[in-house]
Amino acid sequence: MTDKKERIAIYPGSFDPLTNGHVDIIERGLKIFDKVIVAILFNPSKKALFSVEERLAMIKESFATHKNQENIIVESFDGLLVDYAKIKDAVAIIRGMRAISDFESEFQMALMNRKLSRDVQTIFLMTGLRWIFISSSIIKEVARFGGDISGMAPNPIKCKMKEKFPLLK
Ligand code: PNS
Repeated sequence: MTDKKERIAIYPGSFDPLTNGHVDIIERGLKIFDKVIVAILFNPSKKALFSVEERLAMIKESFATHKNQENIIVESFDGLLVDYAKIKDAVAIIRGMRAISDFESEFQMALMNRKLSRDVQTIFLMTGLRWIFISSSIIKEVARFGGDISGMAPNPIKCKMKEKFPLLK
C-alpha cells in the first residue's frame, strides 16, 4: 500500500485582523486540501493594527477548538510567497474573491506567482454571501468608532479589538 501524499495549500494574507470571511475560506479550503497553512505576511513597511506575534496568537486561539484544528497551521512568512510555498511543499495558494473589484489585483498577483514558479497553482475561492461585505479594514473602521462587530470576526479577535478600541462594546 502506498502512502498518499498530503495536499497542502497556503492561505496567505495580512489578516489584520482575521475575519469570519477568512474563516469561511479556510473551511472551504479544507474541503479540497488535507492541510491549510494560514500564512501571515511579515511586512515591516505596511502599518498594521496588530503585530505579527499578536496576529499569530489571535488566529491560533480562533481555531483552538475548531473541528479541523489539526489541519489548520498558522505561521508567518517573509520574502516571496512562492519560495515559502516551496519550503512548505504546498501545491496551491488559496485566495478569497469577494467581488469583481478584487479581481484585477488578484489576477496580477496570481500571474506573477505563476511566472515565478510553475510548481504552485493559485486557486480562488468565493466566500459565503453573508461575508461578502466584510473585510479586515471595514471591521477596524467600525470597531474604532464603537460599532458592533459581533458575528463578523471570531470571539478571540473581538476581545483583542476591544483592547485596541475602548469604544467597542
Ligand atoms: O491580505 P493581503 O494583504 O491582500 O495579502 C497579500 C499577500 C500577503 C498575499 C501578498 O502581498 C504576498 O504574497 N506578499 C509576499 C511577497 C510576494 O511574494 N510578492 C510577489 C507576488 S505579488
